[in-house]
Amino acid sequence: MTQRYFIETFGCQMNVNDSEKVAGLLRREGYEEATSVDQADVVFVNTCAVREKASEKLYHSLGRFRRIKKQRPELRVSVGGCVAQLQGKEILDRAPGVDVVIGTHNLSSLPELLERSRDSSEPLLELDRKADAFAVEAVDVVHSNRVRAFVTVMEGCNHVCSFCVVPRTRGPEVNRTPGEILREVRHVVEQGFAEVMLLGQTVNAYASDGIDFAELLHRVHEVSGLRRLRFTTSHPEHVNKDLARAFRELPKLGGYLHLPVQSGAPRVLADMRRGYTPAEYLEKVALLRAHRPDLALSTDVIVGYPGETEEEFEDTLRLVGQVGFESIFSFMYSPRPGTTAFRQVDDVPEEEKRHRLHTLQRMQQRFQEERNRGRVGEQETILVDTIDGPGRVSGRTMHFRLVHVDGEAELLGREVAVRIDSAGPNAFRGSRVEDSALETSA
Ligand code: SAM
Ligand code: F3S
Repeated sequence: MTQRYFIETFGCQMNVNDSEKVAGLLRREGYEEATSVDQADVVFVNTCAVREKASEKLYHSLGRFRRIKKQRPELRVSVGGCVAQLQGKEILDRAPGVDVVIGTHNLSSLPELLERSRDSSEPLLELDRKADAFAVEAVDVVHSNRVRAFVTVMEGCNHVCSFCVVPRTRGPEVNRTPGEILREVRHVVEQGFAEVMLLGQTVNAYASDGIDFAELLHRVHEVSGLRRLRFTTSHPEHVNKDLARAFRELPKLGGYLHLPVQSGAPRVLADMRRGYTPAEYLEKVALLRAHRPDLALSTDVIVGYPGETEEEFEDTLRLVGQVGFESIFSFMYSPRPGTTAFRQVDDVPEEEKRHRLHTLQRMQQRFQEERNRGRVGEQETILVDTIDGPGRVSGRTMHFRLVHVDGEAELLGREVAVRIDSAGPNAFRGSRVEDSALETSA
């Protein structure tokens, strides 16, 4: 009988892409996707360790799977991702019923380990960080969006941000060669994907075979049939003139960039070891906007970092207001074992962290509401990438703004001209201004 898999993914796009690879590997072995855990023979939990809450979600899931396993002992439970890499055997001690734990570089071993675990009385553990993290073939990746394909260009991170666990879980930077990346991009475009999103923890630090990130963008941009090109996540330190110029020169790139700032206070940024001051961050923004005045920027902000004073928090509010971000992802500082900040006293009380988070989010929300209202009546072209429900689809503008419109599934992957009818803080509602979808090809 056909075996079925169920994957639960926590965390960032890199994790989503890893789960897409796992799905591909399992399909190659003849597995099919299950619609729920109850229908599955195998589950894989892809974990995130960035904040404590994210990390703890694993154990909630494992408790649930354990109860199912009591009824169906043949269910195989496997765990991967950053918590797996970090905690390894501890997971097995804390959560009986887990059959396989694999590290961030060992995805390609999963099918074999699952197979072996059927005859093994002991759980199996593979955490070899020297294994090839890119061993999964492009043809095997099962993309979760039907229009936008993720392509990983690098793994790991060479930065040492004091709060961040990623360098410990994913190891130092490893870059794929431009040849491998271009092969994968051509492959997904041939499969019909209109958009490619290049992924890496610090994607704009990319360097391989004498090629830097801006040059990689130029080469990927040339792939015929590709209509939109995006990338994430960028680090301000590696934003340079060539990257800024790419935003002007490469039409498929659109006008959107995610550029985490973390804080607007000089002391906090220095303590975080981010490698830039608030003034330098603003200079990078100015450089980018000199080449692309309409660039929409989003960012990440941490509030309540150890020692963060009220004034330092206000510095952050000021910087956020100054840049005028399209959107922000904001987090309360969460101490992570093994990071350098973990040695400092987590001295901003939880309640104060929550208060600062709400203050920041309220300010940004008001800004987004007002700015977005000003966009009502504008005409845009969206690339439809999601079916919201019967007769309803959505897509992104060149600036990565989300617009919902009435339309059928056949619009998926097509560029459609829309007029913005109404605006919320995070999305727009639009209507099509032409009967036929505008189909542009590169
Ligand atoms: N380069 C990475 C990326 O691709 O986004 C950044 C790592 S992390 C997955 C994403 C965001 O989580 C960071 O930019 C930071 O704002 C936040 N973060 C990381 N560690 C954190 C911590 N210990 N507490 C709170 N937020 C954290
Ligand atoms: Fe983490 Fe800083 Fe790298 S936030 S992923 S150590 S750039």
